[in-house]
Amino acid sequence: MDHFLYRDGVLHAEDVSIPDIARTVGTPFYVYSAATLRRHFQVFDEALAGMEHLICYAMKANSNVAVLKLMGDLGAGVDVVSGGEYLRAKAAGIPGERIVFSGVGKTRDEMRLALEGGIRQFNLESEPEMRALSEVATSLGVTAPVTVRVNPNVDAKTHEKIATGKSENKFGIPITRAREVYAEIADLPGLEVIGIDVHIGSQLTDLEPFRLAYQKVAELTQALREDGHTITRLDLGGGLGIPYERGNEAPPLPMEYGQVIRETVGDLGCEIEIEPGRLIAGNSGIMVSSVIYLKEGEGRDFLILDAAMNDLVRPSMYDAHHDIVPVFEPEPGVEQRPHDIVGPVCESGDTFAKARNLPPLGPNDLVAFRSAGAYGAVMASEYNSRPLIPEVLVDGDHFAVIRARPTYEEMIARDIVPEWL
Ligand code: LLP
Repeated sequence: MDHFLYRDGVLHAEDVSIPDIARTVGTPFYVYSAATLRRHFQVFDEALAGMEHLICYAMKANSNVAVLKLMGDLGAGVDVVSGGEYLRAKAAGIPGERIVFSGVGKTRDEMRLALEGGIRQFNLESEPEMRALSEVATSLGVTAPVTVRVNPNVDAKTHEKIATGKSENKFGIPITRAREVYAEIADLPGLEVIGIDVHIGSQLTDLEPFRLAYQKVAELTQALREDGHTITRLDLGGGLGIPYERGNEAPPLPMEYGQVIRETVGDLGCEIEIEPGRLIAGNSGIMVSSVIYLKEGEGRDFLILDAAMNDLVRPSMYDAHHDIVPVFEPEPGVEQRPHDIVGPVCESGDTFAKARNLPPLGPNDLVAFRSAGAYGAVMASEYNSRPLIPEVLVDGDHFAVIRARPTYEEMIARDIVPEWL
């Protein structure tokens, strides 16, 4: 459920009309709904009710500081994967004890930053990384709370670029080797084992892979306890999928996901952590763009937009589907025709959708890409020297620009021409 609905034939974000925002900030832009973000946090919170838990929002999905502040104010923690994300979380006022550090290649500098600024735990992914953290923590005279990310070798049944839980993926330590790795950590100075971490992939639309992975984590918890480790926290990762194609998809609900957690690891006496990103941010945002031209091709029409693959890369990168709707609702019965919806970037890959049915649209008409709040703005680039597009947050009947569009001058001024040239 989200708060992007037509009212009197005009698409709104909560109580704000999209054309009003477009007049103020120009297109293209991203707009997020605060009510939807809050609701998505709450559905997870309710799904885990009765178990001690912390929802650590995976901020890679949408790391605007305003979004993080909103999540932090709800009591969320965050899952960070870089020094930059750590500092953004801090800038949003999220305390170190609610920040989890994940990622397969944390550098020593990043470890130092987090140990000095405060950290809830590091999710470790390899033996060299454990040794590095042990050295950094020891040199600072502190103890780092750690889990090991185990790779349970389950098929997440999602797009191959976002599956992470099979042994051929670069992530985690094979669960079959976990006991020896935990034994090594116990011998390393500066590290304190507190739990286990697992994350098997993103945009999962089936609960069975979660169930299989969490059952393995439950067995490992018992085994590690027998080995004398203190396991008090289980980080179960993120990955719950969202409906991208309205009417065609119904992925499991957070409540059902919570039930899987309860059934698999609920009786171990552990604090539960989850790291949802997409489900919190994805359907909380849309990208709005204007038509530049309608170009009639052979056997198909091209709708050329002012947004491009550099602004929303998911369709070209993962063949991802985003519903694309006109901002002014078509009258019932209006004839819809198939269009290829494309951007102005000079590659054929700059195609958002093929043969998508749309009512007649022409220059300056507005369209909205749904489900663009996660992995949209954060993955944008300035390819073709197109400045990053602005981000807007709506809350009830008011809105604010939470990241402004840079001017061409600002974009160009970042380059430095050496004196000797
Ligand atoms: N935790 C870890 C360790 C992760 O690697 C990820 C996502 C998450 C949590 C959050 O997963 P989520 O709940 O958002 O599914 N750019 C891709 C998605 C990449 C996901 C990477 N890791 C896309 O646009 O589909």
